Amino acid sequence: MNEAIRSGSENPRQAQDKAHDHARGTASRSAELSVVVPTFNERDNVTVLYRRLEAVLSGIAWEVVFVDDNSPDGTWDVVRALAQRDSRVRCIRRIGRRGLSGACIEGILASSAPYAAVIDADLQHDETQLPKMLSLLASGQADLVVGSRYIEGYKSQGFNKQRAGASALATEVAKKMLRVEIADPMSGFFMVRADRFEQLAPKLSVHGFKILLDLVASANGNLRAVEVPYTFGQRQHGESKLDSMVALDFLGLVLAKFTNDAVSLRFLLFAMVGGIGLVVHLTTLFIALRLFKVPFAEAQASGAIVAMTSNFILNNFLTYRDQRLKGFALLRGLIAFYIVCSVGLLANVGVAFSVYDQEPIWWLAGMAGALMGVVWNYAMSGLFVWRKK
Ligand code: GDD
Ligand code: MN
Repeated sequence: MNEAIRSGSENPRQAQDKAHDHARGTASRSAELSVVVPTFNERDNVTVLYRRLEAVLSGIAWEVVFVDDNSPDGTWDVVRALAQRDSRVRCIRRIGRRGLSGACIEGILASSAPYAAVIDADLQHDETQLPKMLSLLASGQADLVVGSRYIEGYKSQGFNKQRAGASALATEVAKKMLRVEIADPMSGFFMVRADRFEQLAPKLSVHGFKILLDLVASANGNLRAVEVPYTFGQRQHGESKLDSMVALDFLGLVLAKFTNDAVSLRFLLFAMVGGIGLVVHLTTLFIALRLFKVPFAEAQASGAIVAMTSNFILNNFLTYRDQRLKGFALLRGLIAFYIVCSVGLLANVGVAFSVYDQEPIWWLAGMAGALMGVVWNYAMSGLFVWRKK
């Protein structure tokens, strides 16, 4: 610290220069390793993780970037307090966004360190592997080091049977379809060369949580990967955020990568919900016509309204679950959905009626009308109902 003062033999000018150099040196001494930690409601875990990192990374120029999606439990607040005491700690607090993959991408890109690691905040990953992972990258043996749960030496404490089975199946599907060679492409614990990541980043999906699989699949075999086994531990505090819906995210990612990004997850879910809407529509039409003896135009209109409502609910839960409308916004969204679809509904009934007029086959007319409505919903709801914030 006080080199300039200690070196008494120098003249004041020299000493000043040296002090300046030193200060500049300190300021420009950037981290070699950036540890990125995505967080959502991890208030009780972040300090423990920080202490563990500090202990295991001594001797390495490291920093930690917490990427918090505005956690209701105030995780970001705890991180800010840590950052005030240690400048190696940084916090990115994202407002109005959710998503594990997006958070990791943002955190890695926020740093200029040549190596970036991603580790969960909940202490389920083994941070003591980090120095070994860094030396594998720094020695040039690999571009990517994956903390793997499936290779020899793998032991699991925090994995229930059902989840282990589903995860193993997903891994097999991913490996076959995307020709991914690593044993555990579902891992959320890895370290990568930042320059390679930077190149691949524009190809990555911010949705979902399988960032490693995405990274490896997007690299098309051009990422030299090494795996290190680790013990998947028990979550200490809080709960897992990955619900059963993540299976959908996974499917979407595999499909998107398999079709070279031609088919997006949203497109797929939308089409699926549209298909369900068609069934709902036809069922309602059938019931109205046969059971309640409603005239055809009214029956067709009520089929459309029921289908519209169920489509809205399903899309809000599946297709747009990352932008899910809640409370007042849900009501506003439903009204917006009705409004944008009302034109479609007119077209729907109009088309169906004219078909029915010519050929009184109820299901043909119903289907033609519903199709019209679905196409309209598809285009407009993305524009007006679930608008990107
Ligand atoms: N910023 C942000 N945004 N962080 C999130 C979000 C989000 O929407 N969802 C989850 N996280 C954070 C959590 O706070 C935690 O630090 C980490 O991401 C992992 O989330 P968990 O909810 O603990 O996931 P998990 O334990 O069920 O799954 C983990 O293990 C899997 C392997 O079995 C993750 O690492 C997965 O990526 C991994 O595939
Ligand atoms: Mn976890």
